[in-house]
Amino acid sequence: MNELDALVDAATTSFAQAVTPADLENAKAQFLGKSGRITELMKGLAALPVEEKKTRGAAINLAKQGVEAALTARRQALADAELQVQLKAEALDVSLPGRQRPTGGLHPVSLTLERIEAIFGSMGFDVAEGPEIETDWFNFTALNTPEDHPARSMHDTFYVEGGTETAPNLLRTHTSPMQIRYAVQHVKKHKVLITAGGVMPEIRVIAPGRTYRVDSDATHSPMFHQCEGLWVGQNVSFKDLKVVFTDFCRTFFESDDLVLRFRPSFFPFTEPSAEIDIQFQAGPLAGRWLEVAGSGQVHPNVVRNMGLDPEHYIGFAFGMGPDRLTMLRYDVNDLRLFFDGDLRFLSQFQ
Ligand code: DAH
Repeated sequence: MNELDALVDAATTSFAQAVTPADLENAKAQFLGKSGRITELMKGLAALPVEEKKTRGAAINLAKQGVEAALTARRQALADAELQVQLKAEALDVSLPGRQRPTGGLHPVSLTLERIEAIFGSMGFDVAEGPEIETDWFNFTALNTPEDHPARSMHDTFYVEGGTETAPNLLRTHTSPMQIRYAVQHVKKHKVLITAGGVMPEIRVIAPGRTYRVDSDATHSPMFHQCEGLWVGQNVSFKDLKVVFTDFCRTFFESDDLVLRFRPSFFPFTEPSAEIDIQFQAGPLAGRWLEVAGSGQVHPNVVRNMGLDPEHYIGFAFGMGPDRLTMLRYDVNDLRLFFDGDLRFLSQFQ
């Protein structure tokens, strides 16, 4: 092997030992740099006679090309290796199945509330919401509930800060305060008309929401839902209550052979008052009477507290339990299941 071939060999070996691009550039300098071995050989040409210069020059050039080819090949090899490392690190397994996001759904009681709103909405009822922290006035007094009424006892009610010492604020025990709140706003809106002796547009509203009582067993939870209904006008009677509520129950339970019973009862804010029971004619609950709401003709004192003259305005109200309706519709036997947040239970309603 001549001296130039040996030089190309040495360069190739040196390049092969370079593990990083920086190593490789250092190795290159030794052969092709300013004082590299090829460069030195080129410099040596100057001293040679013309003929020899030609042949020697051509040979050195050939060697230089050899070194450059080895350098390019090694550069490529190092770049390829780096790419392989990167590809491996960023490898994507495209055959993995995608991650499924579980889809959420509405809570069964929310489904019921939506249904109640849709049905009463179709009968021309507005939907109103009110505060869960109530004053004594709206929760009791305005609803004709005397001070010694059992519903007012510490035992039954969550009293909270605020209000006065004799009339503290509380978590509303029912949605009935919304009767007064809504009616007062309605009357205010039509005040000019009413004062001028005109006929006020009827009040027709439902008010669903959370309510609270100190109660906890399979059919009672300290937080539960109610939905109030109120229809007040000049000529709204108990007959209208029967028609509206019967229609509602049949639509809600999708059953025409559902029977309703208006059982005489007592509520301070209605007179007469009735408990509404339903009876399914078929299915697992067939034959049993199940209570679904309290109701009655709005008491004159309550009409007065709405800002209306009970001689001219009359109507009915009801308060039902959406939790109870949900239990009946889906045949659930423990109310607490609704509020435990157990997905095994809740996901059955999606
Ligand atoms: N507020 C009553 C309760 O919680 C239910 C009720 C009864 C509401 C009669 C009414 C009604 O509007 O007229 O027990």
